[in-house]
Amino acid sequence: MMMRIAAALLLLAAGRSDAANGTTRVRGHGFSFDATAVLERRALPVNGSWRVRLHARTRLKKPTQLTVVECRNASVPLYADNIWGCGRRSPAARQWQRREWILCGAKPLPNAVVVPGRTHLGVDLFSPTFQHEMINGVQQLAGVWPRFVNDTKSQLLCHGFTCALARAALNSSRFIEGKKCRPYFFPVLEVALVRGDLLWPGAYDPFAGPYTATLLGGAPPARQRRTVLYATRNHDAYHGKRLVVNESAVVAAVSAAAAAADLEFVLFRFENTEASARAFSAAAVVVAPHGGALANLVHCAPGTAVVEIVPAQTVRLFYAGLSYARGLRYYAFAAREFSYNGNVVVDAEALADVVRAAARGD
Ligand SMILES: *[C@@H]1O[C@H](CO)[C@@H](O)[C@H](O)[C@H]1NC(C)=O
Ligand SMILES: *[C@@H]1O[C@H](CO)[C@@H](O)[C@H](O)[C@H]1NC(C)=O
Ligand SMILES: *[C@@H]1O[C@H](CO)[C@@H](O)[C@H](O)[C@H]1NC(C)=O
Ligand SMILES: *[C@@H]1O[C@H](CO)[C@@H](O)[C@H](O)[C@H]1NC(C)=O
Ligand SMILES: *[C@@H]1O[C@H](CO)[C@@H](O)[C@H](O)[C@H]1NC(C)=O
Ligand SMILES: *[C@@H]1O[C@H](CO)[C@@H](O)[C@H](O)[C@H]1NC(C)=O
Repeated sequence: MMMRIAAALLLLAAGRSDAANGTTRVRGHGFSFDATAVLERRALPVNGSWRVRLHARTRLKKPTQLTVVECRNASVPLYADNIWGCGRRSPAARQWQRREWILCGAKPLPNAVVVPGRTHLGVDLFSPTFQHEMINGVQQLAGVWPRFVNDTKSQLLCHGFTCALARAALNSSRFIEGKKCRPYFFPVLEVALVRGDLLWPGAYDPFAGPYTATLLGGAPPARQRRTVLYATRNHDAYHGKRLVVNESAVVAAVSAAAAAADLEFVLFRFENTEASARAFSAAAVVVAPHGGALANLVHCAPGTAVVEIVPAQTVRLFYAGLSYARGLRYYAFAAREFSYNGNVVVDAEALADVVRAAARGD
């Protein structure tokens, strides 16, 4: 019985090997493809004592294993989606529509950028936005990073923020900055796959410190973290999604909790990446409804408390995963009402209680 379970687990982790063409079906976070070969499997460190606080229904599925696979003759139509302004009709857009974000054993698409040699995948495959790059992109980047650094003839495909992270970590000319809407072709592409919720302890370590320092102009982040940062979504960019109803009452209650803990209250609204780095790296407690601003947690030092306002059900754990990987103390605070595409109603006093507990380190 144990043997059978062990064998089944092994099969799950490795993917299914296909006798017909020797490929192996592998699964990443939200995508799968037929890889040419499995190159490496390594166990990931698991922090057994880390927990999602408060939310009884929610548990992070901690990643335990990383698999690196090889994809020969890889066709990658980078962000060839209509919503990124790439049109619908090109062969790249059609491959994207078939969800073939990576296709091994393929021919180059018309106008493909052919990148010779061995390349490592360091992008989120689906989306070039900040929050997706900081979670999915960093998972790819961190997964292949030791192999990329070690193999000094290889290159790394990055995009936007993952390029910025990689450049902050390593001064190198081996980065291929992917352009959205362009098809790419790699004779040999290495891709990292993780089972579990995305990121593992230490995943950000090579990148986060240097990246924040670069944004802060080389100045070290504030030695003392002395603020309670509340990130509002009352900003045009969010199109009214997840607006906190009666936010003024919430802000008043959270500022009172900050003052009681002898911390300064900061109302955060996105201005630019430098200001985000400065604000998040100075925070002792971060409070926000689930949303892209929380990807700035990458700038927070280990030990920072995070209070994410989430629904009672269907919690999306991306920022719990980021917090786990960065060693942040994470509290999932259930809103009274919560709609991902609509309003959020919060019990302001209950939230303030959690902020007080988070500030004390409970
Ligand atoms: C593991 O989690 C505990 C509790 O959150 C934390 O105190 C500790 O620093 C974490 N260790 C690592 C290596 O992240
Ligand atoms: C890759 O493409 C080359 C040239 O078309 C071909 O010779 C080779 O067999 C292909 N390899 C794989 C694994 O598809
Ligand atoms: C390998 O074979 C399977 C089924 O036999 C097929 O679905 C898959 O597309 C093939 N992969 C490649 C890279 O030819
Ligand atoms: C680095 O590369 C060498 C030579 O290819 C190899 O023997 C070694 O195992 C590699 N180390 C890592 C950490 O990948
Ligand atoms: C990066 O490396 C190049 C070539 O080795 C060097 O000229 C340049 O000064 C380096 N840049 C930084 C920021 O270290
Ligand atoms: C909260 O907002 C709703 C709708 O705007 C309003 O009806 C209600 O009185 C407000 N409650 C408080 C406590 O301000």
